[in-house]
Amino acid sequence: MDFKKEHQSCSNDNFPLEENEEKRKEIDNVILNFANEFLNTISETKAFNNSGQNKTKQDNLFEIGKETLKLENILGLIKERVVDTGLNPASGGNFGYIPGGGIYSSALGDYLAAVTNRYAGIFYASPGAVRMEDALIKWVGNLIGYSKGFGGNLTSGGSIANLIALSTAKKSKNITSKNLLKSVIYCSTQTHHSIYKAINIVGLEECVLRQIPLDSDFRISTFELKSQIKKDVNDGLKPFLAIANAGSTDVGAIDPLEKLSAICREYSIWFHVDAAYGGFFAMTTYGKNKLYGLKQADSVILDPHKGMFLPYGSGMLLVKDINHLLNTNKYSANYMQDAEKEMHYSPSDLSPEMSKHFRGLRMWLPLKLYGVDIFSDYLEEKLRLTIYLCKELRQLGFTIVCEPDLTIIAFRFNFKDRDNEALNTALLNHILEDGRVFISSTILDSQFTLRAAILSFRTHKKETDLLVYLLKSKLEDL
Ligand SMILES: Cc1ncc(COP(=O)(O)O)c(C=O)c1O
Repeated sequence: MDFKKEHQSCSNDNFPLEENEEKRKEIDNVILNFANEFLNTISETKAFNNSGQNKTKQDNLFEIGKETLKLENILGLIKERVVDTGLNPASGGNFGYIPGGGIYSSALGDYLAAVTNRYAGIFYASPGAVRMEDALIKWVGNLIGYSKGFGGNLTSGGSIANLIALSTAKKSKNITSKNLLKSVIYCSTQTHHSIYKAINIVGLEECVLRQIPLDSDFRISTFELKSQIKKDVNDGLKPFLAIANAGSTDVGAIDPLEKLSAICREYSIWFHVDAAYGGFFAMTTYGKNKLYGLKQADSVILDPHKGMFLPYGSGMLLVKDINHLLNTNKYSANYMQDAEKEMHYSPSDLSPEMSKHFRGLRMWLPLKLYGVDIFSDYLEEKLRLTIYLCKELRQLGFTIVCEPDLTIIAFRFNFKDRDNEALNTALLNHILEDGRVFISSTILDSQFTLRAAILSFRTHKKETDLLVYLLKSKLEDL
């Protein structure tokens, strides 16, 4: 090959994917204007835009072809077809499901992570990124009361964190095709559906699955659990995994973690706690007490995109003994020999991911910029707002289905001798049609139930009062 000739034919000063500074500034400006407009108007923007749904299927504007669009037009399309449709999780009026966050400093961390594109899965490739991620895992581990020898990883969310936790439990309890059918998993009707998905994905669907009855506050009954375990042992089954909530999705209930962990220890059962929603309340004085038992769990998951107000895409798994994570995930390959000389674990040794998003920066940057206390202050505010909203709802005549452990309120109106499901649905629809706030619904004790979850960093008294006002005005109509 004539390298000189080849070089000349390849050489081209016009590489549009490598914008020069002038071009970058031009683009940055347009993007920043868009982001600022979004943030400056967020308090007047709807939390839910029902009418936007049809727009997304009107034409093929999302489809990819050879044609290009000007950045301004692209952003116009994003605004009309994405931002202005459906749920607006960035809104303080979002009381639905488990509200997400979207703090700006975290978005900037993500921006830097993408621009610098560190290879965060392997210590050899990015020791700094891995150490940053380690520091976050250490901080959260200490927060829930783990002291030494634990490990974890930053995932894309709670579902994947649950998945890795269950594969770790399976491996460490040596569940194989030989004992699968006799192995027992304990959970409850309040277990998040990502756990059931994980059970299927990691090949545990043929295990015996026990949904333990709840007490009147929607928490796992330890009495029922213990009786069931005893019975299973007597029947020659092998109890191996119990799953509890530290903040259930429906009502935010915290299962009796200390008692459950004691039962699990007694029967050598892996104790997993889903603290996706509730875990970060351990930063508050109230939550620290309530979540005391977390430190006894074999594995815990938390969602920084919930309790730390980060944009979606941030979960975390913690495993009390890092060796279990290593045994489940660490593999070698010839092409990895240079990286494997390192004495430091890589995130890829502790999770199924290899090339992965440098997730640490989106969490580390806000913590460094604002400090830990600001996050606990915000969470304290959500706890206070919950007490306030409960009081207001009771004054309007609503029944609070169970006293909230954290910041989710399940409530319904009892319209005597009338169709309660239809009328509570009418209340929900009124809120959705108005769109300034968003709530969701569920079924509890076979009854249609409304839910308000207070977790957005943008939800304050003003948004809470608006929700009360909307409910009150519809109640007057009904
Ligand atoms: C208790 C609980 N666990 C797990 C999950 C799943 O987390 P993610 O949506 O981050 O995958 C959720 C989601 O809301 C949840 O509330």
